[in-house]
Amino acid sequence: MQKTYLAGLIVLSTFLSPALVNAETASHPEQALHGSYKDWRVLGVSHRLDKKYVRAILGNDIAINAARSGKTQPWPDGTVIAKLSWKEQTHPRWPQAVIPGEFAGAEAIIKDSKKYPETGGWAFGHWEGGNLVINDKEKTATCFACHTIMKDHDYVFTEPALQ
Ligand code: HEC
Repeated sequence: MQKTYLAGLIVLSTFLSPALVNAETASHPEQALHGSYKDWRVLGVSHRLDKKYVRAILGNDIAINAARSGKTQPWPDGTVIAKLSWKEQTHPRWPQAVIPGEFAGAEAIIKDSKKYPETGGWAFGHWEGGNLVINDKEKTATCFACHTIMKDHDYVFTEPALQ
């Protein structure tokens, strides 16, 4: 009886553990590779008059170092640029000041020229909680279509505004 139980456990864990490992990497596909944007530094800010959003554009260390040394044409492999968006709001005590309102999400572009040659060497993704998830093909196509306007600028709109 106990033997059967043990054998069952062994069989179960043999099947389960690779499945668990896969589920883990599947739900955190780029996490280990890129870390969280929360400690990154500011590359620029923007205000979309059409969408009424304010944005902070952050870069990982590779992006910041490339920007500081003026080596962004093209951006090096390993660059990740994050775009954090908030709905615009006016300051309650100073209505001429536009400030961040409700948080609207964090998107990313990830440079890996060997892995993503069809989309200019960039992957397009977004953060779900702390995890950077690469967008599916369909969504990526919409991102890339608009960013293609910036083809001669390595597909990046932001001009680093580092001080
Ligand atoms: C209709 C045009 C359009 C589409 C579609 C679009 N973007 Fe952008 N994106 C922009 C513009 C304009 C900027 C610069 C202004 C700003 O900060 O919003 C920008 C900036 C960015 C930035 C900051 C780096 C840079 O290029 O300046 C990231 C990251 C980004 N977009 C990710 C995405 C992702 C991911 C998608 C798809 C889900 C996407 N974008 C779809 C127009 C677009």
